[in-house]
Amino acid sequence: MAKLAPSILSADFYHLKSEVETAIQCGADWMHIDVMDFHFVPQLSFGAKIVADIKKHNSVFCDVHLMVTNPADHIDSFVKAGADLINFHVEVPYHCDRILQEIREKNTKTGITINPATPVEQLKHILPLVDLVLVMSVNPGFSGQKCLDYALDKIRQLKTIREKNQYNFVIEVDGGISPKNVDQVLSLGADVIVSGSAFFNADINSKKDFANTIHHYKG
Ligand code: DX5
Ligand code: ZN
Repeated sequence: MAKLAPSILSADFYHLKSEVETAIQCGADWMHIDVMDFHFVPQLSFGAKIVADIKKHNSVFCDVHLMVTNPADHIDSFVKAGADLINFHVEVPYHCDRILQEIREKNTKTGITINPATPVEQLKHILPLVDLVLVMSVNPGFSGQKCLDYALDKIRQLKTIREKNQYNFVIEVDGGISPKNVDQVLSLGADVIVSGSAFFNADINSKKDFANTIHHYKG
């Protein structure tokens, strides 16, 4: 069963509690937490406190997507806040392997993210080490952008590599995913669908339908 991970970046922060609870009632499996530093991406979002506050009241799986220049500086605070999985971009740190080890040593799941223009080959030595690969289908920094279709082929490539090598990572896709293109993304092999604007801007019934489509995808 594929999973839905709504990105709270598109939630109404004034009503964060009800936004999170409604998302879960409508079928959200994870909450996707977009952390932006105004350096790696041209926007500021929020830090570890948002995870700590959610986790104080709710056990939902928190999938932290670090869009920051120095991911190593943020591992400790997000682990302490209760993050279940931390993923960071392969394009930024000098020492991806070391950061992945640190996350794993802190008993937290690991993820690596690739931008639309980054080839899968760049992940070659990292794939055996991660629990999740996040394929960006927009350039990171904003919700509400259009999906870049050329990036989606990487889902298929990653699925093939996973089968060939018997790796265990799940494939997550993030950016411009809506009920209009979710079937295509699932058919390529995505295991986790992130959705920001399409999910949070929809009414309750459409949210439930979106989650159902993802949970019951038959191929
Ligand atoms: C982009 C973020 C995405 C974004 C998704 O920088 O990583 O998670 O919030 O939003 P939509 O689904 O609106 O593209
Ligand atoms: Zn994201």
